[in-house]
Amino acid sequence: MRRPAPPRREVVRLFIKEGGTVIDSSPMYGEAERVTGDLLADLGLQSKVFLATKVWTSGRESGIRQMSDSMRLLRAKKIDLMQVHNLSDTATQLRTLHEWKGAGKIRYIGITHYTASALDDLAEWIKRDPEIAFVQFPYSIAVLDAERRFLPFCADKGVATLVNRPYENGGLFRAVRGMKVPEWAREFGAATWGQFFLKYILSTLGVTCVIPATRKPKHLLDNMDAGRGPPAVRRRAAKNACALAESLAKRKNECDKKSGGGIHGCAPQKLDPLEIHSLKRAAQLERLGRVG
Ligand SMILES: NC(=O)c1ccc[n+]([C@@H]2O[C@H](COP(=O)([O-])OP(=O)(O)OC[C@H]3O[C@@H](n4cnc5c(N)ncnc54)[C@H](OP(=O)(O)O)[C@@H]3O)[C@@H](O)[C@H]2O)c1
Repeated sequence: MRRPAPPRREVVRLFIKEGGTVIDSSPMYGEAERVTGDLLADLGLQSKVFLATKVWTSGRESGIRQMSDSMRLLRAKKIDLMQVHNLSDTATQLRTLHEWKGAGKIRYIGITHYTASALDDLAEWIKRDPEIAFVQFPYSIAVLDAERRFLPFCADKGVATLVNRPYENGGLFRAVRGMKVPEWAREFGAATWGQFFLKYILSTLGVTCVIPATRKPKHLLDNMDAGRGPPAVRRRAAKNACALAESLAKRKNECDKKSGGGIHGCAPQKLDPLEIHSLKRAAQLERLGRVG
């Protein structure tokens, strides 16, 4: 067996030690399934994990081949959750997933997408197929679309939710580079930006699980800490969304001035997603009368 790089081994070991359970993969993610399977076997931790992966292809035979490969690479006799990745050939793959569930090869059926514009399509599939037990989609402090209708819809249907891209693929960290975590965030136990971003998601009604990606043990521990702490996070964070929006807007103005003067390293355009959405969010909260 090829031995995977030590930091990845440590990430998986610490993840389980700290109480993590769900590992999400896909044939789309290069060597991820093989590395996950090898590491879990090497660490003797297969039984501790809820394994989720995906089928990402067109056609029945191709889907069956791919899922069989996934089981071999992940070294699993049964996959806990098999998801149709990015709604690829959904009708065909769902038919096979029903058969595989009946045969005991998978425990649950899911569907995923990586864009908020697909939320309505995901909802349509959930309405059409009562066997869909999990749905995976993007949601973050910068991409709030899911909280309007989709998360309440999933809660109503009893469909479990997996939140992907919680850090906008790392973009949120670039947006707050050089900024301190607000003092008030410490009141609900968010000592770092990572914990702040994850706690915001985790305290939303309807969120079952959030799946940040990391290669670093230090970041893994940071992310796991976001799962701890008091439950009143969201109300507090929402109440202070205005303060965050103001500080981001101020920073952007400073960056604009500096970049006009030829100072590098400020990259004002990188602040845009968080700033715009935080401002939108703050305005929305003010309209709802939830900000004091
Ligand atoms: N269509 C789909 O089904 C779909 C699409 C996209 C994603 N996903 C799933 O969602 C998962 C997460 O999404 P994502 O990979 O797009 O990105 P993400 O989790 O939003 O962001 C990952 C980035 O954040 C950094 N990071 C993680 N924890 C950190 C911390 N505590 N402090 C600072 N930086 C940190 C990582 O760098 P380091 O490695 O340096 O920590 C990496 O660059 C994927 O692994 C996948 O399972 C599914």
